[in-house]
Amino acid sequence: MCGIVGYIGGQEAAPILLKGLHRLEYRGYDSAGLALVNQSGDLNVYKCKGKVSDLEDYLMDKDATGTIGIAHTRWATHGIPDNVNAHPHFSRSGKIALIHNGIIENYRVIKDALIANGYTFRSNTDSEVLVNLIEYVRDTHGCSLEEAVRVALKQVVGAYAIAILEKDNPDEIIAARQSSPMVIGIGNGEYFLSSDAASIIDYTNDFVYVKDGEVAIINRHKPLSIVNLDNQPASIDITKLELSISELEKGGYDHFMLKEINEQPRTIFDCIRGRISPETGEVKLSGVTDNREKFINARRIIFVACGTSWHASLIGEHLIEDICRIPVEVEYASEFRYRNPIIRPDDIVIAVSQSGETADTLAAIRLAKEAGAFVYGICNVVGSSIARGTDSGTYIHVGPEIGVASTKAFTGQVTVMAMLALAIGKERGTVSDEYYREVSEGILSLPDKIAEVLREDEHIAGLSKVFTYARNFIYLGRGYNYPAALEGALKLKEISYIHAEGYPAAEMKHGPIALIDAEMPTVVIATGQDTYEKTISNIEEIKARGGRIIALVRKGDTRILGIADKVIEIPEITECLTPILSSIPLQLMAYHIAVCKGRNVDQPRNLAKSVTVE
Ligand code: AGP
Repeated sequence: MCGIVGYIGGQEAAPILLKGLHRLEYRGYDSAGLALVNQSGDLNVYKCKGKVSDLEDYLMDKDATGTIGIAHTRWATHGIPDNVNAHPHFSRSGKIALIHNGIIENYRVIKDALIANGYTFRSNTDSEVLVNLIEYVRDTHGCSLEEAVRVALKQVVGAYAIAILEKDNPDEIIAARQSSPMVIGIGNGEYFLSSDAASIIDYTNDFVYVKDGEVAIINRHKPLSIVNLDNQPASIDITKLELSISELEKGGYDHFMLKEINEQPRTIFDCIRGRISPETGEVKLSGVTDNREKFINARRIIFVACGTSWHASLIGEHLIEDICRIPVEVEYASEFRYRNPIIRPDDIVIAVSQSGETADTLAAIRLAKEAGAFVYGICNVVGSSIARGTDSGTYIHVGPEIGVASTKAFTGQVTVMAMLALAIGKERGTVSDEYYREVSEGILSLPDKIAEVLREDEHIAGLSKVFTYARNFIYLGRGYNYPAALEGALKLKEISYIHAEGYPAAEMKHGPIALIDAEMPTVVIATGQDTYEKTISNIEEIKARGGRIIALVRKGDTRILGIADKVIEIPEITECLTPILSSIPLQLMAYHIAVCKGRNVDQPRNLAKSVTVE
């Protein structure tokens, strides 16, 4: 979960590297650094604990010149966040500098062997071991840096996206990847390298996604060259990306998270555009039409995901079982990959991931493919590892999500799942025309209805302030809204640091009701029609024990208004789409409470946007 960026060309590298690091801070931000080779041939490495802005301050009186450089923003995996463990790391001779995103699983064995050969280490990181292994290979083999990198990586077990530069060869950057993301931007006589295209989109729209097991030789005087570890040439496929810079900026909002919450009317419009006919309501997903036999004959669907994407998958399970009558299982990818699961060739595994780089989810789809299952992806980042590792899929098209707490990606994922359920249900003949039309019209109404909920923001901000005292919250929901309760709880805990749990409302009497008192607010999603009376009973049981209630209700519900402490209304919509609307107030509530508590909303402590390590 670190960010890497590199540059080689005719411009000064430092400004490009620092701007790229700022764009990558969502990936990790406990320390940062850069390495440059200046016109005099000096290799200068500058790094410090803290954010990219701290690195910029540190560089004020330094020689940060040079037209070749690499830079890194870190989320610590080995060694505490400090100036020594920060990247770049350099070799014993001081002539090679390396930045690394990932984990070298067998670094200890390699480190012991290097120590036995007289090496000493400044840091506690696996990355410093790797740069010294590369130098050791180069010196003992008397080979080029590029060959030393290939030979060294054959001894490495783990995940890496690395970039290396050498004091004595200021015309070349060597880069390599395995499991961690890396993209190379092709400029006019210059090259850019990054973990994420969005960090270098200012300079080019032409990108090459480096694949697992590949090494890139990026020379300022030559065409880009990519080989595998056996030095066999790899294909160089250029992808043109049309990302706008405005999408990457805050757009006048205080935080990316608030911007992304408020973008949702447009992002859901973008998500459904061209996929659902406004006239007929017909859903067309190429991932389904191109693979209709797979979906018609599927005996089971298994969702694999993490975090918010796992919550979205729980709603996907309900949608697909309800509409397509296919048995569905939802698995934490981190559990699925290690429990020797039963996967059959007529299973369909659906990987859900905003970043498309989550290590556990990536590993889960590898397992599924080895077992012969058809693997489908629901991702946001175009060209991401998971997107490219699946047999087919549907992008959610909600644009870059910078805030660590996922918001617009969640509603985009659930919207895609609703369209997917309709498309599959149609192919399997398991959904009535009437219900198909009801749900597709509901999907088409989402942008306007989300905008209607967002107009409640002032009311939600006001009631949120009342509850900033709380140290614990419980979120309750039933049916389609049980996962929305889980998601609401996750939003609150990850940005406000208040403990929060989501529960099926009926579970209260099986234990959690013992927790109820005036100090612990309960959020109840009470929009369900079939379970409305039961939810009212839940609310009354909580009130009878002194609990305070924040209730999400259908617009015009005056009954709960009379018993809950606070009420937030959401517009009428078909039941299976209510989680999309009910998640919006819960996103806003978490945001406002976190802001009241002075939290770093976009970059909460200990978190990173993409968990590319296990
Ligand atoms: C969501 O708010 C969290 N930041 C986190 O749980 C996230 O959903 C999870 O890490 C999965 O990420 P992905 O969707 O990019 O795979």
